[in-house]
Amino acid sequence: MDKREALAALEREMRENISLPLQTNLVFGEGNLDCEALFIGEAPGLNEDIQKRPFVGRGGQLLRECIRGLGWRENEVYITNIVKRRPPENRDPLPDELAAYTPYLTRQIAIISPKVIVPLGRFSMNYFLPEAKITRDQGKPFQVDGRLVVPMFHPAAALRATGVMEEFRKGFKLLPEIIAGAVPATAVSVAPPAQTKVLQKGLF
Ligand code: URA
Repeated sequence: MDKREALAALEREMRENISLPLQTNLVFGEGNLDCEALFIGEAPGLNEDIQKRPFVGRGGQLLRECIRGLGWRENEVYITNIVKRRPPENRDPLPDELAAYTPYLTRQIAIISPKVIVPLGRFSMNYFLPEAKITRDQGKPFQVDGRLVVPMFHPAAALRATGVMEEFRKGFKLLPEIIAGAVPATAVSVAPPAQTKVLQKGLF
């Protein structure tokens, strides 16, 4: 099975799994399956639910503008979310929603196998780095069980505060250097069962 078929099978499985929480549209993700950079947000919002595409609202415009600002094309990267259906009123994802969707995210990552994972905001960051704090650790490279992870502020947070926007843009510009290995990464070991435990205990 090639990557496209494997991802299509995964998406089908998600669609058919009626025990997955949330009733809104499935927003599986989009982009290049052989990407270097995989961006992972929190959950779709209203625009994403309507268009069934990730990051197409105001935050998405900022994200896509920053991607293009690096000289990359939008369809050169892959963009998805940790929770793949919109929570009511865009509320934060609940621990049981995160626990239900993360095994699919793990499989999606294994299929795509990007060079760098960029979690956007604390929900997806804490999936990879349960102890990390977004204000302290955003823009820093980590090696998490063999994968390069660079957490960044959520674009919606950047749109709310000028200082966050500056940090967000600064972190973004470092991505090519980080991918090239020019910035040393902190090694962290997080076994998947520990991640599940954190999710189940509701520590997000
Ligand atoms: N916010 C997210 O976290 N993801 C989206 O797809 C859109 C907004």
